[in-house]
Amino acid sequence: MKIHIKRSFDASCSTYDSSCDIQRMVASHLCSLLKGEHKSILEIGTGTGIYTDELRRRYAYADITCVDISHPLLKGAKEKHPENIYICADGENLPVKGEYDLITASSAFQWFSNPGLSISEMLKFLKKGGEFAFSIFAKGTFTEMAILNNMTGFGSVYNLRAGSEYLSALEGTEFEHEEREYVLMFDSVQEFLKKQKGTGATFTGVNRFTSKSAYRKFLCDSVPHRYDRIFEKKFRNPQFVSILYRFD
Ligand SMILES: C[S@@+](CC[C@H](N)C(=O)[O-])C[C@H]1O[C@@H](n2cnc3c(N)ncnc32)[C@H](O)[C@@H]1O
Repeated sequence: MKIHIKRSFDASCSTYDSSCDIQRMVASHLCSLLKGEHKSILEIGTGTGIYTDELRRRYAYADITCVDISHPLLKGAKEKHPENIYICADGENLPVKGEYDLITASSAFQWFSNPGLSISEMLKFLKKGGEFAFSIFAKGTFTEMAILNNMTGFGSVYNLRAGSEYLSALEGTEFEHEEREYVLMFDSVQEFLKKQKGTGATFTGVNRFTSKSAYRKFLCDSVPHRYDRIFEKKFRNPQFVSILYRFD
């Protein structure tokens, strides 16, 4: 499964930055919640460095170590911030030593196979009194796609976990938990699908996000009820197609 996730992200290296509107908003919000003045930071699931930009602005002099499973994405981050340390590795099996003031990840842990266990392992690299902060795409994101999938069989939706499933690893620590919903507006359902593909978040565990032939059928006029029209009728309000994202 990890290899498929990695391949989808690898393929998005030239489109991620122009497609990641929601990840940008979430990264900015997560950074605004950070409390400490940190000198050493471990960022997991760095991608092209969208959240790293925020961390660097806030912690101008910190040593930042960036980990990601996708080499092409990490290369993009390195071009923007050559001063950081970059490690291409699985965040669920961290090859790091030492301790950090801040361990953090934005929009990444939802791709982990066993986030509860992996978070417990990560905490071993956190300095006493350090800060641990992350955001995840949570269950309820893309409800619209799930409804369309039920109605038409088109597409599939990655099985996202509820935020509470990540919190068991933090039992016994002092933590704050916030849930947020974002509704993004798209001109058309095709525009939403294009953006989604552009971020590399296409692995759903059920083949791919959608096959080419299914997508052609989705847009095909000869199909009596074009799926995109079903979708738009249900979710257009009234000018734009709205898509719900839930974050914890
Ligand atoms: C949605 S992107 C978020 C990237 C960046 N944090 C941002 O906010 O734009 C998710 C990132 O997690 C990475 N990722 C997924 N599974 C991973 C794993 N097991 N270990 C490390 N990185 C992983 C992907 O390669 C991708 O860069």
